[in-house]
Amino acid sequence: MSVEEGTRRLRVRVLGSAAGGGLPQWNCRCEVCRLARTHPGRVIPRTQSSIAVSIDGQRWALINCAPEVLQQLQREPALQPSRSDRHTPIESILVTNGDVDHIAGLLSLRERSPFRLYATAEIHGVLRHNPIFNVLAADCVERCDVALDHPVELLPGLTATVFAVPGKTALYLEGDEVEVGAEGESTVGVEFDVDGRRLYYIPGCATVTPQLAARLEGAAALLFDGTLWRDDEMIRAGVGHKTGRRMGHMSISGAEGSMAALADVGLGRRIFIHINNTNPVLIEDAAERCEAESAGWEIAFDGMEITP
Ligand code: MLT
Ligand code: MN
Ligand code: ZN
Repeated sequence: MSVEEGTRRLRVRVLGSAAGGGLPQWNCRCEVCRLARTHPGRVIPRTQSSIAVSIDGQRWALINCAPEVLQQLQREPALQPSRSDRHTPIESILVTNGDVDHIAGLLSLRERSPFRLYATAEIHGVLRHNPIFNVLAADCVERCDVALDHPVELLPGLTATVFAVPGKTALYLEGDEVEVGAEGESTVGVEFDVDGRRLYYIPGCATVTPQLAARLEGAAALLFDGTLWRDDEMIRAGVGHKTGRRMGHMSISGAEGSMAALADVGLGRRIFIHINNTNPVLIEDAAERCEAESAGWEIAFDGMEITP
């Protein structure tokens, strides 16, 4: 069935809204993780970073594939087999970097249903160097390179364009010298443009460059890196020694944060996603949540639906 122009409408389902580790994180007892265990009304538990997109509700593409993908699919009837005893509505998967939270779920989709796997040549190289990904049989899962700034048809009638954003190589690939903020094929954002209505998904970003701000201007919706509230949040919480900057994630708050950097960019909806379990915006009644919402930001949750 073809999807007529003009009747098409992008639908986004947030499958997982947390950053690497999920919420609560198995080995964390920070305030947010504690509340997620004891007061799930005040802190809604969340799985790791992934969205599903469709324009007809029948055929779907995943953007990123989290370790919890099976649990995520279990919650989404539209993503379950419907046409026959062996079927999946998922026709393609695009990954935005090589982080564990974005690729590990691929290992759970190895039961010989065909789909196309899209990534930059660099990220396909990372997957090829990890032979465990060969469980995705080559005669079932076609690995397709995406070039920066060249649209690819993820689904009939739905193209996606990936573009470089300042980022960092995956944690497990870090050498002695780590370059943070480099732009290339290792970390990308994704643009969807359906009949002129644009939606961006950028789960990891180290800085908002003037070029990025210009690209985002006028978009119907932005799903943006909400990893940390403040740069030294993990250090202050006593659960880590890294700053957000060192992890390749800009923080939400402060003069150099994403709320300030994007304040003057015209956007229909602005939504934080890929949120780390230490981030106080995850607490429904926190002052930080109120501050973000007052600035026009929404906080993604698993199951959130966005039809820009
Ligand atoms: C990140 O987003 O910085 C990574 O997912 C961290 C990790 O690999 O745990
Ligand atoms: Mn991540
Ligand atoms: Zn925690």
